[in-house]
Amino acid sequence: MHRAVVLGTGSCLPRRVLTNDDLEQMVDTSDEWITSRTGIHTRRIAGDGEQNYQLASQAAEKALVSAKVSAEEIDLVAVATLTPHMMMPSCACFVQTEIGAKNAFAFDLNAACSGFLYGLDMAEKYIATKPDMKILLIGSETLSARINWQDRNTCILFGDGAGACVLTGAMETTRTTRTTEAKQRGIVASNLYSDGSLWKLLYMDSPASRNPDLLLEERNGCFMQMTGRDVFKHAVRAMEKAALDLLDLQQISIQDVSLIIPHQANIRILNKLTERLGADQEKVFINVDKYGNTSAASIPIALDEANRQNRLKQGDLVLLCSFGGGFTWGSMLIRW
Ligand code: ACO
Repeated sequence: MHRAVVLGTGSCLPRRVLTNDDLEQMVDTSDEWITSRTGIHTRRIAGDGEQNYQLASQAAEKALVSAKVSAEEIDLVAVATLTPHMMMPSCACFVQTEIGAKNAFAFDLNAACSGFLYGLDMAEKYIATKPDMKILLIGSETLSARINWQDRNTCILFGDGAGACVLTGAMETTRTTRTTEAKQRGIVASNLYSDGSLWKLLYMDSPASRNPDLLLEERNGCFMQMTGRDVFKHAVRAMEKAALDLLDLQQISIQDVSLIIPHQANIRILNKLTERLGADQEKVFINVDKYGNTSAASIPIALDEANRQNRLKQGDLVLLCSFGGGFTWGSMLIRW
């Protein structure tokens, strides 16, 4: 049996740091309000030379170095994003060219904040049938271009960034027993869900436009629209159920999980989820304080930071959970 194994990770954050104090100068808010409601202190905002595909490419190059894989060896470049800088070609095609992955096919996928988790699940399915495949999966966003910076309900929450990983098939275990199979590295299992009936609680209506000739009202349709309280409740309940169902099905206790990497939406969602899963606080990876909510980039950035901080040891069980616009949500177990 072949499992999809993460060979290496990388991430890239824009240079510009936007603090809560900066936001106080832009909208009617305060550091105290933002910190207590969201746990966010700073977020990164893309500037010159930091378009979505450029952040994605830099994250990808770091992941290739970490995986000890060359760009030419990559068979597929997939980018999870809801903020491509152009509608066509895909962000993935720009990345493919930028990093020189000339033997790869490339495409984007959009499942909002769950995009990277959906991408991992897809990569696992490719690898199950073609174990030699090397897949470069990236989550990358420039949400700052899709935020109304006069809307205090949303502008405090989001940030830009990119994270990436390289996956391939694990070596086949000969004479597999139940125990060796359970300990085998790679993606163990996942469950994904969507409910389009609730789309109005979190959406962007039309493609982005940075046309300076358009008035703010004319561009309103391309900004993030959110009913925060309802999103909060759905996010907690959905991630809790997805994770507990997955653990149950795999007959794994939350105590057996070494690290939980949830989508970094805000600290109150993460704390509620931790409590409901019955998990130890120190097992939950958190960086939302530094980067805010980076949508599809949040899990791969966190995965890369956890990897570089040596918080992932070979054989560890890692639980990923996500929730985002659509609604889309799910969870995944990886044996590191
Ligand atoms: N600064 C100061 N006051 C604010 C701000 C702000 N930035 N934003 C809203 N307020 C005000 C509101 O106007 C309201 O004032 P009122 O009582 O006079 O009407 C008051 O604060 C309370 O507003 P609520 O929206 O009820 O505040 P709530 O406690 O629900 O917190 C928040 C808002 C932080 C958005 C919360 O609902 C939340 O975290 N929701 C989840 C949203 C989320 O994570 N979205 C990301 C996308 S989905 C995902 O990634 C999971």
